[in-house]
Amino acid sequence: MRVVVLPDQQAVAERGARIVASLVRSKPNCVLGLATGSTPLGVYRELIRMHAEEDLDFSLVTTFNLDEYVGLGPGHPQSYRYFMQSNFFDHVNVQPGRTHVPDGRALDFEAYCESYERRIADAGGIDLQLLGIGADGHIAFNEPGSSLGSRTRLKTLTKETVDDNARFFDNPDEVPRLAVTMGVGTILESKRCLLLAIGDHKARAIRSMVEGPVTSQITASALQLHRDVTVVVDESAASWLERREYYDEVERAQSLIESGQPRALGIQQPEE
Ligand code: PGA
Repeated sequence: MRVVVLPDQQAVAERGARIVASLVRSKPNCVLGLATGSTPLGVYRELIRMHAEEDLDFSLVTTFNLDEYVGLGPGHPQSYRYFMQSNFFDHVNVQPGRTHVPDGRALDFEAYCESYERRIADAGGIDLQLLGIGADGHIAFNEPGSSLGSRTRLKTLTKETVDDNARFFDNPDEVPRLAVTMGVGTILESKRCLLLAIGDHKARAIRSMVEGPVTSQITASALQLHRDVTVVVDESAASWLERREYYDEVERAQSLIESGQPRALGIQQPEE
């Protein structure tokens, strides 16, 4: 895991957007895995700006979202389809037919979830999966106890998640208790993962994910088994990390290599 600690929320959004944009530029027909929630909002804002000001082109990009509430249609203001339209898709040139958000009103969820997995595979798999993390360590709606091999399926939300989400609904009784979500196994198959976290309410989950054991009690910890994960957090979300100095050291070395100064690390170039 590459752990990048940045000063604040804006820096996290800019770094996240830069990683997404650089993939879209190098592979215009890439497949993006997208997330909802407050964390990725800044990334979407920045990508919309890059589309408007720097010609970032989404016309060939395909997207798959992680999850959706059961029972909410695309027109419901709290549905994740609605969130994606209003916070991202409606402001860039992604083709509507290439955007996929699970259907929270499918009649046969088992068949529907299988078809969602098949569509991801048919698109060539996810090149980059954007992720947030729940205070309980979940990724997507893979609540504690979810199988680390799980696939897209129905999931019952924990009381903690339902309570966390209640702030968005007028009446707490309206908060959905079930979601359709990609599984941990689905997420682990994406070629690269980018997990973002902001704020001290995420500090404990970030420490468990990065430095704790791999356990289904913190489903984000399964990312330790993935070969290409970048975790970008602000100072508050990083505040419980015990190996913080080491991550900063790795980051300094990585930046020198990426900015073409490997000699500063004692690495000789082939022609030298
Ligand atoms: P948040 O949600 O970005 O709104 O904090 C993250 C999550 O629960 O996965």
